[in-house]
Amino acid sequence: GQDAPNRADVSLIAHRGFAGVYPENTVAAVEQAASGVAVGASPEMVEIDVMPTADGEIVTFHDSDLGRVTDAPADLADRKVWETPYETLAELDVLGTGERVPTLEEILDALPADVGVNVEFKNPGSADVRPRENLPPEARDEQRELWQEFAEDVLDALSATDHEVLVSSFAEGALAAVREADPSVPVAAVFADSIADGMEIARRYDCEAVHPPWNAIADTTLFNAEYGTLGPFEDIDVVELAHEEGREVNAWTVERWYEADRLRRAGVDGVIADYPGVLQFGGAAD
Ligand code: G3P
Ligand code: MG
Repeated sequence: GQDAPNRADVSLIAHRGFAGVYPENTVAAVEQAASGVAVGASPEMVEIDVMPTADGEIVTFHDSDLGRVTDAPADLADRKVWETPYETLAELDVLGTGERVPTLEEILDALPADVGVNVEFKNPGSADVRPRENLPPEARDEQRELWQEFAEDVLDALSATDHEVLVSSFAEGALAAVREADPSVPVAAVFADSIADGMEIARRYDCEAVHPPWNAIADTTLFNAEYGTLGPFEDIDVVELAHEEGREVNAWTVERWYEADRLRRAGVDGVIADYPGVLQFGGAAD
């Protein structure tokens, strides 16, 4: 795709493959997102969520349950992805589009080599992704083993491609496992509810990037249906702090041009966006 005129120097990262306009986390989404057909904006990276199936396949899927995203029958709607065999998942329709739940390999095959991939580790096959210090010792070991196995499998799949890779996660266990499996793979700490805690995790794993929710950076008074309830966040300039420490800042999930524009002026390196046009329209003078 072609570059738009006012992209500035902010990277565009397609959230779930631009979930605002394509069926999230599917082959069709990454193909169309990467091609830049929509408003001429191609992303530097596509963000996808990954988790294992019951039989150890890696699929790109956001929710723990099957109900929202697929046409799973009522008795399967609450079923967890990691408790479902791949064969069952592969039969489901995604958001009524005719798309299927893809494997990570299918997604990587569909993505042009010059588009990077931000692989967000959702969970390793267990719902319990609490910070390890909050777990009893046995659960800590079990969680560690699950993350290690999953990280090795995902990194294997990624190493078979030439894509630029950035692994990210809310879960500290995922960052630890990826660092241990291959310290050369760049990682990003995704922040949920505290800038200070997120930055501490970023330091612990020497993360190349941090991924705060956009309203931890810009004005929080604007309405964001899915994420606007996050926070309030501490009065910390996360962009300045992260940059001082040599970490890039990619903010999620940007849905509107005015969010992107505020973030651009706040100095972020990238926006993880649902719509391809967020960096192209509107915008105040610098
Ligand atoms: O990678 C950042 C963003 O995707 C985190 O939120 O819930 O959309 O995966 P979520
Ligand atoms: Mg995600």
